[in-house]
Amino acid sequence: MSEAHGHGHGHGHGHDVGGGADMAEVLDLDAEVFGGYLADLVSWLPVQDTPREIVDLGAGTGVGTFALLDRFPEAHVTALDASSAHLRRLQEKADGAGLAGQVDVVPCDLDAEPLPLGSPDLVWASASLHHLADPERVLRRVRDALAPGGLLVVVEIDGFPRFLPADAPEDRPGLEERCAAVADRRAEEHLPHRRADFGPMLEAAGLRVEAQRTDDLEIDGAGSATVGRYALEGLRRLRAGIADELSAEDLAALDRLLDEDGPQSLLRRDDVQVRTTRRAWAVRPTARD
Ligand SMILES: C[S@@+](CC[C@H](N)C(=O)[O-])C[C@H]1O[C@@H](n2cnc3c(N)ncnc32)[C@H](O)[C@@H]1O
Repeated sequence: MSEAHGHGHGHGHGHDVGGGADMAEVLDLDAEVFGGYLADLVSWLPVQDTPREIVDLGAGTGVGTFALLDRFPEAHVTALDASSAHLRRLQEKADGAGLAGQVDVVPCDLDAEPLPLGSPDLVWASASLHHLADPERVLRRVRDALAPGGLLVVVEIDGFPRFLPADAPEDRPGLEERCAAVADRRAEEHLPHRRADFGPMLEAAGLRVEAQRTDDLEIDGAGSATVGRYALEGLRRLRAGIADELSAEDLAALDRLLDEDGPQSLLRRDDVQVRTTRRAWAVRPTARD
């Protein structure tokens, strides 16, 4: 899942959203950078029985789908997303891994009715709920659809990641904070649920929090081509949304970081890292009278 990379579009509303191949590539980079976290998260899930039917809500390119199939190799996953480009990629990966029989991709706007949820044992919603116009409505649908004993897992990111130390770059210290402040304000204008505390919303939808975790992640990128590329793509997309609001000096400094051939390129710096906070909730339907 990717926060820095995921906001170049608005809500689904029945058409293809979510960017094309470049966005899909970024989601895959995200899976590589955060692979260790993801494996740990999936092994933490308080499932009662081994889930057989799984729904991945806003599955993207399948980061969650494949991590879940690693832990639950007998399961079947229905991957729902409004972006057919992402689902195409997910399907290709499933085919390549010999998992085609265990994965169905279903193009679907989660803001629309009806939701093709079936009766799943496990629903996974990673970095997707905050994209929706009315996430609580979707949460109520999930509560009603879950099989007895079923579990919903929500994962969300706490804003844009940071890729450099606070005092970098040398010539414009604090550049990233200034960029992120603009980007956060703009993102929240069209995504009101971004960085929301989903705990109360889950309770309001009739879901009881069984386990919650917050992970402050810091991944060292020195010498890692993947982290360098991830930082480059992250700040590149950030720039596209905020360039008109940056000072000329900040914009020039940002462009020096983004210049793949330049001496300050994010691909070559030895102080690149990824710092971000991810929150996860594992919830079950509240007992009804
Ligand atoms: C930040 S990505 C997360 C993808 C994936 N869950 C992951 O963790 O890598 C958000 C995903 O939500 C999808 N999405 C956004 N709005 C949607 C909507 N209204 N209906 C269905 N999918 C939507 C996007 O296409 C995108 O794939």
